[in-house]
Amino acid sequence: MKIAKTIEEVRLQVKEWRAQGLTVGLVPTMGYLHEGHASLIDASHRDNDRTVVSDFVNPMQFSPSEDLESYPRDIEHDAQLVEAHGGDLIFHPEPEEMYHKGFSSFVDMTVLTEELCGLSRPIHFRGVCTVVSKLFNIVQPDRAYFGKKDAQQLAVIRHMVDDLNMNLEIIGCPIVREADGLAKSSRNTYLNDAERKAALVLSQAVFLGMDMVRQGEKNCDVILNQMKAHIQSEPLAKMDYVKIVDCETMQQISVLDRPALCAMAVYIGKTRLIDNFFTEDIEK
Ligand code: PAF
Repeated sequence: MKIAKTIEEVRLQVKEWRAQGLTVGLVPTMGYLHEGHASLIDASHRDNDRTVVSDFVNPMQFSPSEDLESYPRDIEHDAQLVEAHGGDLIFHPEPEEMYHKGFSSFVDMTVLTEELCGLSRPIHFRGVCTVVSKLFNIVQPDRAYFGKKDAQQLAVIRHMVDDLNMNLEIIGCPIVREADGLAKSSRNTYLNDAERKAALVLSQAVFLGMDMVRQGEKNCDVILNQMKAHIQSEPLAKMDYVKIVDCETMQQISVLDRPALCAMAVYIGKTRLIDNFFTEDIEK
C-alpha cells in the first residue's frame, strides 16, 4: 500500500492499473479514519480491483469560524486502517498540491445546497463539490463511495455527477454506529465524557422518528415535534435543525408521500453533530 503526495504519482499509478484492465474505486475522506470509513473501503474493495483512498482536510469547505485548524489528523493510523481493509493507494496531498497559486475555478450548486446544512454552512458544499470534482478528475474512478451519514452531501454529489455528466457510479453506504447508537464521526473526539453521553440524543431521536414512520405516521410535523422534544430534553444539546425533506431535491415536505430524508444537526457543547434516516431504508 502506497501513500502518494502528488497528483502525478496518483495519475501514473492509475494509468498502470488501467493498462492491466483493472477497475478502480475511490473513497474520498478527510482522514482520521474510523469504522465508518472502513466500511466504505470494504465496499470499494469488494466492487473494484483497486481502491484509492484520498486523505485530505479540504480547507475550501470550512468557513473561517469552523474547525479547520483543530480538525483531527493522523496519517500513520489512517495508513494502517486503509491497508487492513484492502486499500491500495492513499492520496494525501498538501493543500498547495490541490490548490495552486491563482486557483480560481469552483463547482457550485443551487437548490439542493440551500437547505439543511447549507443554511448554517453557506460555503461548505461549494468546497465539497470543487474538491470532489478534482478528485474525480485526478483518479477517474469507476465508482466512488460516500457515507449516508452525510446524506445531503451524498445527494449533492449524485446531482453534480448527473448535471455534469461525470462518468462514474456513486455508491451510498449505511451509517456505522457505536454500540450505544452514536453515529461514528471524526468529530466525536471533540466530546468530553458528559457531552459524549448527551450526544446520544441524536441517535435516540433518529430511532424515535424511524419507529413513528414504521408505525405508519405520515405527518412530518407530528414526527418532527416528537424528535425535537426529545432533543430539547437534553440540556447540553442545542438544535441547529431537524427537518424532513424530499430525498432528491432536499426541499422540505409536510407529508411522507415520497422517499424522504429526515436529517438533523445538533450542537453538543461546541461540537456540531449530524445524524439522519432515509424512510426508504426503514425495514417494514
Ligand atoms: O465527507 C467528507 O469527509 C468530505 O466532505 C469529502 C467528501 C472527503 C470532501 O472533502
